[in-house]
Amino acid sequence: MWWRAVRARRRIAGARPASTAAAAAEKSCRAVVVPRFGGPEVLEVRQGVPVPDLKPREVLVRTRAVSINPLDLRMRSGYGRSIFEPLLPLIIGRDISGEVAATGTYASSFSIGQEVFGALHPTALRGTYADYAILSLDELTPKPSTLSHVEASAIPFAALTAWRALHGTARISEGQRVLVIGGGGAVGLAAVQLAVAAGCGVSATCGSQSIERVMGAGAEQAIDYTAEETEAAVKGKFDAVLDTIGVPETERIGINVLRRGGHYMTLQGEAAALADRYGLAVGLPVATAALLKKQMQYRSSHGVEYWWTYMRADAEGLHEIQRLSGAGKLQIPVEKTFPINQVREAHMAKEKKLVHGKVVLEFD
Ligand SMILES: NC(=O)c1ccc[n+]([C@@H]2O[C@H](COP(=O)([O-])OP(=O)(O)OC[C@H]3O[C@@H](n4cnc5c(N)ncnc54)[C@H](OP(=O)(O)O)[C@@H]3O)[C@@H](O)[C@H]2O)c1
Repeated sequence: MWWRAVRARRRIAGARPASTAAAAAEKSCRAVVVPRFGGPEVLEVRQGVPVPDLKPREVLVRTRAVSINPLDLRMRSGYGRSIFEPLLPLIIGRDISGEVAATGTYASSFSIGQEVFGALHPTALRGTYADYAILSLDELTPKPSTLSHVEASAIPFAALTAWRALHGTARISEGQRVLVIGGGGAVGLAAVQLAVAAGCGVSATCGSQSIERVMGAGAEQAIDYTAEETEAAVKGKFDAVLDTIGVPETERIGINVLRRGGHYMTLQGEAAALADRYGLAVGLPVATAALLKKQMQYRSSHGVEYWWTYMRADAEGLHEIQRLSGAGKLQIPVEKTFPINQVREAHMAKEKKLVHGKVVLEFD
């Protein structure tokens, strides 16, 4: 569960950095900071933001592109405040593509200047919206030469989220049937492609404008959720349902279309929201109780497994994501790019849904 990582990371945050064999190339840099929670207008591009010393298993990356994830917008607005409020001003951002600028003592598998891409864990304390970002060894992998930095930066956070659900939780295997609710979004599209690559038969719900994209990703069926009844449109039962939307209606559909023993996974777990409402000490046990209650309820009523799934750094998953994206089998189309100095406009475009699809920030 992510809250174990939260506690571990809090301990790490309070500790003195371990020895750094490779000196950081930069001691300070430009970064986008959130000085207080709020709308896009709170984002500030600041110079001279400190770059911490590298720990032994960390890599300093010169950022070339970062994609915007819904989590960035939510963190900017105060989601996760139980963890992040004491850390304001905060650097947000999870995805990255760039070049290695320095390596920690035990990170010599990466070389200076090497092109890499990856994503930070959701609870990482210093984000990627900075000229220099720090990622651990298991959060980075070499960037396929066939992808630009912009294209690469769109992939890791979404794909690792889908990977964790499909492979870590549901343990999908060849021949199984997977339903992706919200196949038109970044995580949904990654899930369709990862499940297809694993040899599964995939159906997905999406908006009419995403049908072609979802079918192009290898789905057997794309159901327009604005025009069709999903339950009536799908045929037979599924082994796994990944629900990227996670509202009561999609949860009801997801549970109903599973075979007994199947896995329903929502990306809208309530742990962070409950921790924000009640504080970490009370909120996390409340979240555990709420999850257990649902799990017992659906096991008894439908014979299915119910999960909240979260993105997690996963070296094996990232390696497979690199392999598939290098082979052209895993793509997240980028709809629009903004220079980093226009980060407010970029967040506004995502927030107001002015751009349908991935938005990427480019670093000069
Ligand atoms: N738990 C975690 O660790 C984790 C990690 C990553 C993301 N998330 C969450 O997962 C969600 C998706 O993330 P993302 O990066 O994929 O976002 P995204 O790229 O912005 O995609 C969102 C998509 O949802 C689709 N959609 C909206 N309502 C729908 C419905 N009723 N049925 C089917 N599709 C619907 C839309 O697709 P159409 O354009 O086809 O209508 C939209 O493009 C966000 O809420 C995000 O916060 C959670």
